[in-house]
Amino acid sequence: MVAPQSRPITIAPSLLAADFGRLQEEVSAIEAAGADWLHLDIMDGHFVPNISYGPGVLAALRKHTKLPFDVHLMIAPVDAYLDAFIDAGADHISLHPEAGPNLHRSLQHIRHAGKKAGIVLNPATSPDVLEWSLDLVDIILVMSVNPGFGGQSFLTSQLPKIAHLRRMIDAADHPITLAVDGGITTATAPLAIAAGADTLIAGTSVFRAPDYARAIATLRGGT
Ligand code: DX5
Ligand code: ZN
Repeated sequence: MVAPQSRPITIAPSLLAADFGRLQEEVSAIEAAGADWLHLDIMDGHFVPNISYGPGVLAALRKHTKLPFDVHLMIAPVDAYLDAFIDAGADHISLHPEAGPNLHRSLQHIRHAGKKAGIVLNPATSPDVLEWSLDLVDIILVMSVNPGFGGQSFLTSQLPKIAHLRRMIDAADHPITLAVDGGITTATAPLAIAAGADTLIAGTSVFRAPDYARAIATLRGGT
């Protein structure tokens, strides 16, 4: 077990909070500012009550950055769209267990394409879903807000879940990323890290900050 303070922290800014009129510039700026991944929230107006953007936007941005594309699918039914995001340049694809009838098959499909596969847990979703799918999982994404919108407040009710998942991951026989998504700020990042997170998804607190590099370094705990 690695102590929280010595665990390297991955920062993944969420494009949802970027200026949609200047996406190429925003992605270049966030890469130059030290982001590790680019988090891409895909919303269909059905699984969640908001619409964001689709694979065409990923494909257009793919040639402008080397950042890994961390795709968070909030669409249902999800399976018919996996290949579109794989082809558009996704490196990681995370999906909600509620978004399709065969979670195991969806994870296998992502893995067989050579991509990292993730499961997203909504605030009310139990980690039990991982018990029989952990072998196919590279990323566990804990929602610390209800999915659909940026700028919401961090749900501290999810901290025990993060700690529970950290114990599960430490006992697993392969490396698994533990990411937290929603309401990550300078105040809540230390709580998520202390509970066991190694990856922070942050939209508002990075893309709405005056200095992206400073915002990223602060969340990482460096300054
Ligand atoms: C919410 C998304 C988040 C969102 C985070 O459904 O999954 O990734 O962009 O935004 P902030 O950091 O503003 O809470
Ligand atoms: Zn997200």
